[in-house]
Amino acid sequence: MTLEEKISLVVGVGMLDRRDNPKGRVSGAAGETVEIERLKIPAASFADGPAGLRIHHDREGDTGKYHTTAFPVETMLASSWNRTMLRKVGEAMGREAREYGVDFLLAPAVNIHRNPLCGRNFEYYSEDPLLTAEMAAPFIEGVQSQGVGACIKHFVANEQETNRMTVDTVVSERALREIYLRPFEIAIRKAKPWTLMSSYNKLYGSYTSQSRWLLTEILREEWGFEGFVMTDWFAGDDAAKQIEAGNDLIMPGKSFQNSPQRKSECEEIRLAIESGDLDLDTLDERVKAILRILVRTPAFSGCEYSNSPDLEANAAISYEAGCEGVVLLKNESALPLSAGAPFVVFGTGQIETVRGGTGSGETHPAYTVSLLEGMEERGLAVDKEVAEFYRRKIEELRSADYSISYGVWNEEIRPRLPEDLFDEAALDELSNRNEAALVVISRISGEGRDRRLEEGDYYLTEDELKLIAGVSKAFRKRGKRVIGILNIGSPIEVESWAGLFDGILLLWQPGQEAGRILADVISGSVNPSGKLPTTFPRTYADVPSRSFPGEPADNPSVVSYDEGIYVGYRYYETFRVKPVFEFGFGLSYTDFEYSDPEIILEGEEVIISLIIKNTGSTAGKEVFQVYVKAPKGKIDKPRLELRGFGKTDLLQPGEEEKLTVRLSKEELASFDGYRWIVEQGEYEFLIGASSRDVRSTGKVRLRKTGGDLRWQIERK
Ligand code: BGC
Repeated sequence: MTLEEKISLVVGVGMLDRRDNPKGRVSGAAGETVEIERLKIPAASFADGPAGLRIHHDREGDTGKYHTTAFPVETMLASSWNRTMLRKVGEAMGREAREYGVDFLLAPAVNIHRNPLCGRNFEYYSEDPLLTAEMAAPFIEGVQSQGVGACIKHFVANEQETNRMTVDTVVSERALREIYLRPFEIAIRKAKPWTLMSSYNKLYGSYTSQSRWLLTEILREEWGFEGFVMTDWFAGDDAAKQIEAGNDLIMPGKSFQNSPQRKSECEEIRLAIESGDLDLDTLDERVKAILRILVRTPAFSGCEYSNSPDLEANAAISYEAGCEGVVLLKNESALPLSAGAPFVVFGTGQIETVRGGTGSGETHPAYTVSLLEGMEERGLAVDKEVAEFYRRKIEELRSADYSISYGVWNEEIRPRLPEDLFDEAALDELSNRNEAALVVISRISGEGRDRRLEEGDYYLTEDELKLIAGVSKAFRKRGKRVIGILNIGSPIEVESWAGLFDGILLLWQPGQEAGRILADVISGSVNPSGKLPTTFPRTYADVPSRSFPGEPADNPSVVSYDEGIYVGYRYYETFRVKPVFEFGFGLSYTDFEYSDPEIILEGEEVIISLIIKNTGSTAGKEVFQVYVKAPKGKIDKPRLELRGFGKTDLLQPGEEEKLTVRLSKEELASFDGYRWIVEQGEYEFLIGASSRDVRSTGKVRLRKTGGDLRWQIERK
């Protein structure tokens, strides 16, 4: 390769989104690598996830043909705690990518839910690194089983949108290793993603895309990553430093960079080589890293693609994944609804259902089944008059003062609609003719902006509260049930109004099959089996990441992760701060009994097993969790940490299943500031239905014998 060719390969060729590359094959993809005709190296294309493949559904003169499937958002996928499901979803997205000529899917995203207000939380799985990794790994394997590459992102410490392109994250190395790097480390070791995306932010003063420590020492030398690294779009400020650090590909390429004086990245790299600041061997290494992966892509093998993936089959997977991710948060004899009993649905979200968030995680499906449509389609006894009223009212409001506009991502901006549309007399009448009431609360957020600690976002509006209070009073007066449906992407405040409901169902942002999922859960044909991958705190004041989104508050340049490793339940449980709904929590329409817990040693591993039995009268699945309380030695330990989990198959009433979790010593290690250590002492294993609902415990001791750490079962 000539020097020119090498340099051109490490810089992308622009965003096809902006139609600045007429040769680009896949309209709406996020970018491509350069084609080098002389060497027969074809362009390879990148398109977003993680809630579905993001490409344009319309092309010039060819409209409505390129739809893709909108899957549940990552947080909802993680609520399934179901590795097999994640594999299936990965396969489906991988198939769509391949059939549309996309070589790399820009997913999964494995940043951590550090704070409920992060605008992109819906795109991330969990507040826990293990659950995150265990969801990401099968997803990656699924995508890559289709012959296209996955891209694990955003590496690393990028847990907010406010000033995301410049903010400097300061975090202890222990927290960095145990919480933020951990999902990358586990998923990379297990699933070997073809690519990784460095993040926008700085870490300890230098852009992550320009950090040799991260991209070469940790990622490659310690973890053995064999793929290539790309920048996030327009990240960093020095192309030569990015190449030097181990960032192989600069995306999207061309100079849309911050300052007009900036040279193109290709020129910057050439100058650095000429001046000797960057040596040719380093550039060669980057080129090789990219080529080693490019030769595996469909583009390289000249694969034909159909432009017509099986959207029907993928819709079925989206539906199935959604059903597994619904979390039943409260149920005082409210759900499932009695068959055939009439009920009424309140809230504009029943029609303007939020299938997912905005930004690069947006999707363009052929349809979204709104909550109302789903319930009607399934023949549920919805109050038709009220449904019709909402249809007309929304149409009227949207064509006047509440019209829709479009944002920077071409996303719809919908002014918030009034929710308080019924007076006391109307509610009284509705509670007379219906047996139950549903109230839908919807929220949307997206890339580029964090959520707000205000009404209409983290808090309910006065309107919403008035509606809930009115409905609750009218229906309860007649002994009828009131059920809240949360169509949201990240926690909101619930403590102050949860008492007004008899049931609360967390539907998250469930993708294009939204209404069908809701209908089947409330009617009881699907028994909810999701559990929370993230805590719902009692009040925002309880959230440990107090420094979010950094200093100075109006325009942060630095964010200090002062809470250290005490993120999410690690904080709430250690410091005994009771949340409204804890990590790992979720109810079912049936009951499960945990029995015969056993801890045994096999070689170097601890094996924890138990039997879960469905003791209720409805078929259902149960997620169990294994937490470990490690001994306090040289360093502090959280009161508990998730170290394993599993989910039963669908258990019929009376049916039981034996489940096991195997743990090696390494999986129990903590980072002492310099290295991973497993301390000797007593390890308590807690088997639970959630982080607070522990069903049994057992202890194992690690003792140093002859220089080795050996397990010993504690016998009482
Ligand atoms: C986002 C990435 C995304 C990329 C390409 C960036 O703004 O942070 O997650 O993959 O755009 O669309």
